[in-house]
Amino acid sequence: MPDLYSNVHLIIRWLHVLAGIVWIGHLYFFNFVNVPLQGTLDDATKKSVNPQLLPRALWWFRWGAMVTLLAGLILFVMNYFYVGDGRFGPTSLLIDPLLGRITHRAMWIFFGMILGIIMWFNVWFVIWPAQKALLTGKVPADKAPAVRKRALLFSRTNTYLSGPMLFGMLAPAHYGAMSFPSLLLAILLGVIAIWASIRSSGKVGKLK
Ligand code: HEM
Repeated sequence: MPDLYSNVHLIIRWLHVLAGIVWIGHLYFFNFVNVPLQGTLDDATKKSVNPQLLPRALWWFRWGAMVTLLAGLILFVMNYFYVGDGRFGPTSLLIDPLLGRITHRAMWIFFGMILGIIMWFNVWFVIWPAQKALLTGKVPADKAPAVRKRALLFSRTNTYLSGPMLFGMLAPAHYGAMSFPSLLLAILLGVIAIWASIRSSGKVGKLK
């Protein structure tokens, strides 16, 4: 059996990815499945389905985001700020000991973490408060369309950010080299994949 530190490290990394799947999985459910679905439902059906569906989905969505962030921050400290024997400081994964500058690996994870933290903020300080107010009837009827529109805008923004963010998560351990062209490619591929998914979400999956 490897030492305790390695076991804890793997469990934190596993928890991070598991919670990330729960969070991003619900984000894609809301954007690729629920938005087209809501467009086909009449008001009576919405009144009976949404109070059962949305609070449950929003619970896994926001707590998935919280656990992903906390496990991700612990993973960051373990990889980039723990030098062993109970001592903390920049590791060679963060600062290149020969060049004395930040490593390419660290540049990738900072890119991914900045996008991930913006997404987490949008969930807890924009999307969830808006959805909670709508679901609990705290929004006056004339204001509800604007509140719904703003929540959708931030949810769409998070969906677009998720594409490049995942490059930022995988590139540190599995790619390494950072350059402007590779960063641009990660952003473009990430955004195009999400755009194509949103665009086709209203058409796919219809039984003939
Ligand atoms: C919310 C803010 C987030 C933070 C602070 C964060 C932080 C981190 C850190 C520090 C690492 C380790 C990088 C390394 O190997 O050096 C990592 C890896 C990873 N993260 Fe995140 N992350 C965040 C969001 C996400 C999200 C939303 C997902 C979605 C699934 C995710 C999935 C992953 C994956 C798949 C890895 C790579 C694991 C591997 O290479 O074995 N992260 N993350």
